[in-house]
Amino acid sequence: MRCSSLSLTNFRNYARLDLPLRDAVVVYGDNAQGKSNLLEAIRLLSTTKSLRSTADREMLHWGVQDSDTGFARVSGQCERRSGPVRVEIVIGNGERLNARDSTRAVVKRYKVNGVPRRAIDVIGQVTVVQFSPADLDLVLGPPSERRRFLDLAIAQVDGRHVRSLSRYGKVLQQRNSLLKQMREGGGRHEHLDVWSEELVNTGAYIVARRMEMVRRLTTLVRDAHGALTDCAETLDAEYRATIDGVEGATVDAIGDVADTFRRALTASRGRDIATGQTLVGPHRDDLRLTNAGHDLLPYGSRGQQRAGALALKIAEGEYVREVTGEWPILLLDDVLSELDANRRRRVFAASHEGQQVIVTTTDLTAIDRDFLDRSQVIEIRAGTVIAREPFGADGQA
Ligand SMILES: Nc1ncnc2c1ncn2[C@@H]1O[C@H](COP(=O)(O)OP(=O)(O)O)[C@@H](O)[C@H]1O
Ligand SMILES: [Mg+2]
Repeated sequence: MRCSSLSLTNFRNYARLDLPLRDAVVVYGDNAQGKSNLLEAIRLLSTTKSLRSTADREMLHWGVQDSDTGFARVSGQCERRSGPVRVEIVIGNGERLNARDSTRAVVKRYKVNGVPRRAIDVIGQVTVVQFSPADLDLVLGPPSERRRFLDLAIAQVDGRHVRSLSRYGKVLQQRNSLLKQMREGGGRHEHLDVWSEELVNTGAYIVARRMEMVRRLTTLVRDAHGALTDCAETLDAEYRATIDGVEGATVDAIGDVADTFRRALTASRGRDIATGQTLVGPHRDDLRLTNAGHDLLPYGSRGQQRAGALALKIAEGEYVREVTGEWPILLLDDVLSELDANRRRRVFAASHEGQQVIVTTTDLTAIDRDFLDRSQVIEIRAGTVIAREPFGADGQA
């Protein structure tokens, strides 16, 4: 999988950019010039969402945020084994939400090969794995971080998972608002039954799919972690379901998962109403990470936690490759300075033959020599490409 060109219009600090991309790309420049913004655009093409948990309107260039006709466009020409694909995302200012202030709705529109599509049909057209300093949140952050990690990895290879997540989120919201009404003495039990059944029908797939994925991921994580630590330690990843008795769940036996989920919902009905929340289901599950049997979060050293996060990301790339038959684009945002020389080499070794790798850095000497020699080096200053030279072996243009 590779993107051969990227075009931006009014995206973050890029007024206009048309950039051809080779298979090895180094994006270089001082802090706050737009390096991460460039990777954010590529990630957007893949997942339709930014990794930074910001509002969509923040991606519009400041100059157009308050204009009626303001919009940002990100477009990428990419090549997959199955053929070329052009993905285009337009983020536009919509109606004013309120006559008195200038707050506006934001509208996102998508096209694949020129044809308008929904977000859920865009996800996975372009596959990426992004490494960033925020990856440590996979270990240190709340369970939602790890669920998002699992779901994004699966989403890149399985459209049904994307549709199930979208539906599940909506049903969960409805069920929770009904539970809150019931807590106040309103609402109807028949309605709760309807939402519960709907939750079971969409949620069973999510649980089974994640469990299948984690069973494979566990081996990939262990191997990646072994390579990072010279096999001094073992990292284990295990899916922690809030529904009792779904261990070993598979998509083929999804009916069993649904039955178990249904029983769990019935059992927690009283507590659900008392708290006004749905207490069991995939929205409460977690991925447990242990180093030599001990939880990585409270017990791991910072070094062990970093190695754990890195192993998860390397495993994610290998998982996508196994399922789709091609490497996802590897985006390395500012991660090199945090790694020792040995791990840096491992990360570049993870950039395999035929995998497109795009790395950002403030320091060209942090880049693996061999990688730099075959790279296209792009220097960015204030949202403008000021140099686009292949650098020679001495690091000079
Ligand atoms: N919507 C926006 N419009 C214009 N500039 C923006 C917008 N969002 C962020 N920026 C600018 O982008 C720069 C940060 O870009 P970033 O890609 O994170 O930098 P870095 O090169 O350090 O990775 C900052 O100067 C910030 O002010
Ligand atoms: Mg950055």
